[in-house]
Amino acid sequence: MSAKTKVAILISGRGSNMRTLIQAAKQEDYPAEIIGVFSNRADAAGLEFAQSENIQTAVISQKDFDSRESFCEALDAQLEAWGAELLAHAGYMRIHADGFAQKWTGKMLNIHPSLLPSFKGLHPQQQALDAGVKIAGATVHEVTPELDAGPPVLQAAVPVLDSDNAESLSARILKVEHQIYPLALKQFIEKRTNGDSETADQTNLIWPN
Ligand code: GRF
Repeated sequence: MSAKTKVAILISGRGSNMRTLIQAAKQEDYPAEIIGVFSNRADAAGLEFAQSENIQTAVISQKDFDSRESFCEALDAQLEAWGAELLAHAGYMRIHADGFAQKWTGKMLNIHPSLLPSFKGLHPQQQALDAGVKIAGATVHEVTPELDAGPPVLQAAVPVLDSDNAESLSARILKVEHQIYPLALKQFIEKRTNGDSETADQTNLIWPN
């Protein structure tokens, strides 16, 4: 197969979606290579897993910078030093400066635990419960300068049960997040490489449980 696309993952915390991407990228025929994991928090639990997989990590805190722009310049320098071609956001909790977002638009994915465009921003699972919807889910989407507004790449739906609270619904959604993110990254890379017509596995997925 052709050379693998160099992907950097951006996290701020637990990193369970990061893990699924790292695991997927171990497959010989997976089109991405995870070349680094970046966190804006030194205490992000996901860093330890990345290191145990011999993936280079970097931590830069926004607290050491006096503006969003200067922090994003340091982030950009790190990603360029790694030779990143695509960025996969996985629980990364910082909004990018406009210049950074514009530079990387078309080369960034994010996963969000709602069926976008519903329930953007923080606590989307609680937003879904508050709205009383009966179907919730997850979306892998392209990142653009506007928060949670880039085109969806892949979505998965789950039921909302009457007995749900934010924790139980989040857990059900997280399960499908772990299924769609590796698939979405693969599809996104294949589309970039081959164009629409040759994209393999173009599937939209609904899990009933
Ligand atoms: C996930 O629910 C993801 O959709 C959201 O933040 C959470 C991160 O979880 N953006 P993890 O760090 O991947 O475990």
